[in-house]
Amino acid sequence: MSDHRSSDPLANKQQAWSALFSEPMSELVQRYTASVGFDQRLWRADVEGSLAHAEMLAAQGVIAAQDLADIQRGMAQIVAEIESGKFEWKLALEDVHLNIEARLTTLVGDAGKRLHTGRSRNDQVATDVRLWLRGEIDKLARLLAAMQLALVELAAGHTDTVMPGFTHMQVAQPVSFAHHLLAYVEMFARDAERLADVRKRVNLLPLGAAALAGTSYPLDRERVAKTLGFDGVCRNSLDAVSDRDFALEFSSFAAITMVHISRLSEEIVLWMSQNFGFIDLADRYCTGSSIMPQKRNPDVAELARGKSGRVVGHLMALLTLMKGQPLTYNKDNQEDKEPLFDTVDTLADTLRIMAEMVGGITVKKDAMERAALKGYATATDLADYLVKKGLPFRDAHEAVAHAVKVALQQGVDLAELPLATLQGFNAAIGDDVFEVLTLRGSLAARNVLGGTAPAQVLAQVARHRSRLAGG
Ligand code: ARG
Repeated sequence: MSDHRSSDPLANKQQAWSALFSEPMSELVQRYTASVGFDQRLWRADVEGSLAHAEMLAAQGVIAAQDLADIQRGMAQIVAEIESGKFEWKLALEDVHLNIEARLTTLVGDAGKRLHTGRSRNDQVATDVRLWLRGEIDKLARLLAAMQLALVELAAGHTDTVMPGFTHMQVAQPVSFAHHLLAYVEMFARDAERLADVRKRVNLLPLGAAALAGTSYPLDRERVAKTLGFDGVCRNSLDAVSDRDFALEFSSFAAITMVHISRLSEEIVLWMSQNFGFIDLADRYCTGSSIMPQKRNPDVAELARGKSGRVVGHLMALLTLMKGQPLTYNKDNQEDKEPLFDTVDTLADTLRIMAEMVGGITVKKDAMERAALKGYATATDLADYLVKKGLPFRDAHEAVAHAVKVALQQGVDLAELPLATLQGFNAAIGDDVFEVLTLRGSLAARNVLGGTAPAQVLAQVARHRSRLAGG
């Protein structure tokens, strides 16, 4: 912890900014305002940003070549210390930035004190968070692709597996299991697009904005941007230090993605329940009960559904964090980190585990098919059949409603009604009706782009495969 008698100016927070202060910060205020407990996670971005800044300062003649060499040497040692767990993080030094800068000055003297020329922690922290987030975005993009691929590969084997499609949670029409899975692939594909779009606005350099107004040193911002792999620089210094839109957008991407995962999880939980019995999950994704010996619970899916709550909550936290802030930087912004970090961690872990779990799904085709046979799922097909025989759709709909009513009363399926009975609802009904009433007939009939017919779904599987392979 802090040592207020240290000769290192940055080692004593009270002296870190100026001699203006006449008393030290209270312990409580120190603890309340410090962020090093969580923002040390940004250390690598902080070092990278500092090195790029220092290199540019030297190139512009703002600091000497020897200063740059000293800074580089000191930073190399700091990296080694942090990586080996030997770096001593001090609460009294408030945050990751001051901790690293103080250590640098201890290691290399005056050159360390020159590093902060033309820079403020305001543009520094904005740069660090963007750099860090960009790296996380790239990892998440890969995880999202893996998630999609897991679903596509499961779907590929089930374009001919029939399940009931639902609306209002009531059996509606037969669909293939593959078609159902690919609906989630569409969702995750949109999430990936959103993520790629967010990246463009994350990947801009704030550094050079200094505290808020820019700086009087002849900085070459474009050079720093290039060194750090940014696509460009922020064009307004006030905005550069205070904008957290990129965090809001990212968080909103993450919340939407988690909502998609949550919906899929809900289905997995339902499908695995005895009442559906559509799928089974590999044992390694289930847990037992301490009291009921027969239980195998889909805890992973339930937790993924549950964890969507915190990610949605973080979005609300960030929106609320920003809404009352006047320009420019306010300390409020320090509160952006924990929600962002937890969002990234939760989403990454959830994508990883869900992709794995999808690969461990066993499909119980017969149960799915039996369920599809239960709820008059082919009633629409009978109506369509009558339309093809010349009836207006509304009349066909009415005739089939009568047929379903009778079938319900008799406790049989439409296909189980004798032809004579069916003809009682409409004389146009012929022997060919029974093919129409089958699940596979119903599926095959929906041979429209985006429909559930196996040919269509196979085409979508192929499209997703080539898209995900970068083709
Ligand atoms: N720890 C601070 C944050 O996360 C760094 C910026 C501090 N700037 C300042 N002027 N107090 O926002």
